[in-house]
Amino acid sequence: MPSKQVDTNFFDPAYMEDPFPLYEEVRAVGNVVWNQLLEGWVVVGYEEGLSVLTDDGGRFTTLSGDPEITFWFEAPNMIATDGPEHRRLRNALAPLFTRREVARWEARITEVVGRLVDPMTTGGSSFDLIADFTTLPTLIVAEMLGVPADRQEDLQRWSHDIVTNLAFGMEDEAGRDLLRRAATEINEYLREEIERHRRDQPDDLLTAMIRMEGADSMSSGEIRSTAVLLLAAGYDTTAKTMGNALIALERNPDQRRLVASDLSLVPAAIEESLRWFGPVQWLPRVAATGTTVGDTDVEAGQRVYVFPAAANRDPRRWSRPECFDVRREVKAHLGFGYGPHLCLGAPLARLEARVALERLLLLAPEYRLGNVDFGRSLFVRGPESGTLDIGTAVMTSSPEISCE
Ligand code: HEM
Repeated sequence: MPSKQVDTNFFDPAYMEDPFPLYEEVRAVGNVVWNQLLEGWVVVGYEEGLSVLTDDGGRFTTLSGDPEITFWFEAPNMIATDGPEHRRLRNALAPLFTRREVARWEARITEVVGRLVDPMTTGGSSFDLIADFTTLPTLIVAEMLGVPADRQEDLQRWSHDIVTNLAFGMEDEAGRDLLRRAATEINEYLREEIERHRRDQPDDLLTAMIRMEGADSMSSGEIRSTAVLLLAAGYDTTAKTMGNALIALERNPDQRRLVASDLSLVPAAIEESLRWFGPVQWLPRVAATGTTVGDTDVEAGQRVYVFPAAANRDPRRWSRPECFDVRREVKAHLGFGYGPHLCLGAPLARLEARVALERLLLLAPEYRLGNVDFGRSLFVRGPESGTLDIGTAVMTSSPEISCE
């Protein structure tokens, strides 16, 4: 039996509702702890998580490269590869996702956010948090790729079904059926869409991938697989980051007042909510060789799950990590991962979340959330349904933990 083991049940509905007590249960045993239910090592320490994520395929490989687990990719893409192949597939797209490049989308993002948020202040007081507020990310990523508006709802459904049902091979049968159906439909659709792009060459990301040449050139399968990745990686993560930031601010009224009175603090509020309440719960890897993580020996072939949401509350790195504090000096967190697979879409996600939050806090600084349901995604946690009320002068919620 491994020296440190605790079989915390991450499939328990209580985990979805509030994972943080379970992370502390693991931390009380150690920063790297064996979990028999996951048949792998759970990493809740920041330095230990960083040492796994910064590896470039020598000690750890990405689990997403296993075709049994991520069968919807059908061909390699950057998240499913390591080393030189990963660099080839990532380098091809990296110049299109820099901060400067995505800044060109700010005007369009502002327009869509205005269309979503402004009616809230004129047309009534209660809105659907998901349908009325967090649809922005799919719309933008679909427009970037060049997918027509009438298929955007399908894309949102497919990417949501993939991301919320994915449990790295531990899905139940119903979840696996949904995954299979979404995978078949999204791949069928993208096959047609890529053909149309080859023919008509509109000015967008799919055409840019088709035109890549030399060392950056991509096969049809790789283009389709990368498009599935961008759609899947770009929707739930960002929508839930936006929802989670609203929850974090509502649960911490003083912080909300501070940010609403100085909107230049919105980027810091987004970073702090990614640290305190980020959506991505696990990042799985497989040990390529016998190695150590912290002071724990890991055998070749064993799975290692880095839990960024837990590592982001490591008391060795942050003072009073359980407190939401937008003025923290130490900001670098693992909410976007780290190292070679660091989120490619981070500049876009930050831009979308900033524009949306600025607008909402400007128009409705005392918004209220109701009936928030965190759904059942083991991987990307955040509101999957709920209401958003414009609110009045009185705020009813109180912080869970007193951090004054
Ligand atoms: C706030 C929203 C987002 C969060 C929290 C997030 C989180 C993450 C994390 C944790 C990883 C690392 C995965 C790993 O190490 O295995 C990742 C990778 C990735 N993300 Fe994001 N993501 C977000 C938004 C986006 C957006 C908007 C896009 C693009 C449209 C995107 C595209 C990607 C891609 C392509 C990768 C793979 C990078 C690689 O393997 O080299 N993400 N993301």
